[in-house]
Amino acid sequence: MSDNRPIGVFDSGVGGLTVAREIMRQIPDESIVYFGDTARVPYGTKSQATILRFVRQIIHFLKTQDVKAIVIACNTASAYALDIVEREIDLPIIGVVKPGARTAVETTKNGRIGVIATDATINSGMYTRYIQSISPDMAVFGRACPLFVPLVEEGMLHDFVTEEIANRYLADLKSQNIDTLILGCTHYPLLRSLIGKCMGPKVQLVNPAYETAVSLRRMLGEKDLLADPIPAGKTPQHRFFVSDGAEKFEIFANSILPYDIRRTRVIDIEGYEE
Ligand code: DGL
Repeated sequence: MSDNRPIGVFDSGVGGLTVAREIMRQIPDESIVYFGDTARVPYGTKSQATILRFVRQIIHFLKTQDVKAIVIACNTASAYALDIVEREIDLPIIGVVKPGARTAVETTKNGRIGVIATDATINSGMYTRYIQSISPDMAVFGRACPLFVPLVEEGMLHDFVTEEIANRYLADLKSQNIDTLILGCTHYPLLRSLIGKCMGPKVQLVNPAYETAVSLRRMLGEKDLLADPIPAGKTPQHRFFVSDGAEKFEIFANSILPYDIRRTRVIDIEGYEE
């Protein structure tokens, strides 16, 4: 059994492309319909009620694209909305928080885990809850790093300013003797080398984007939803949608994806019901 319909992947903007990239690498036969909510980004400073409304509208849009499964490729939206919307829809849906939490528990040796993320994700306490639901004795230390998102979007991945800010943000975590750090925001894997340098070689970095693609593959396999193999030399048809600024989105996408995007469509996401 196979299913060649696309997978719906969405985020508040460009960040979820780090998750789309992992899906393209790990399950290259799958096609993706990506939606980036570029008109309403950032989600990391918004309330749960607002994020839930946005997420329901996006799911409604993705269902019009005949997707077979949905990935919430945004930590903030996963933290605030996944537990609620998974009870409302009839499609398999996963987020990025649970896979990241599970891997951190498997990775740590001393039971001390750090999480860096947006203010909203840290305030939701979701990473701590998932980690301690797997292993109640784990100590979890959260730190919001709000400036990392605009720095990544400005392309300042190897800049001394970013390094200085990272040193300040991560100083508290360094003093907590953590041995594992979750990069709990879509943009942070793009700062992996800088964060790794700052934390030192004894701290393992967990990238929820990578773990989410692993979980997605497993879930599609279990439900007989994997696509047929693509003929050699061909690539799957991915489709990209945003709520604003298609050109800027494409420039960012083409700097990180293995394929060049040739067309991004702008849709009126407010036109989709909750
Ligand atoms: N995609 C968001 C996340 O992973 C970061 C950007 C935002 O605040 O919307 O939490």
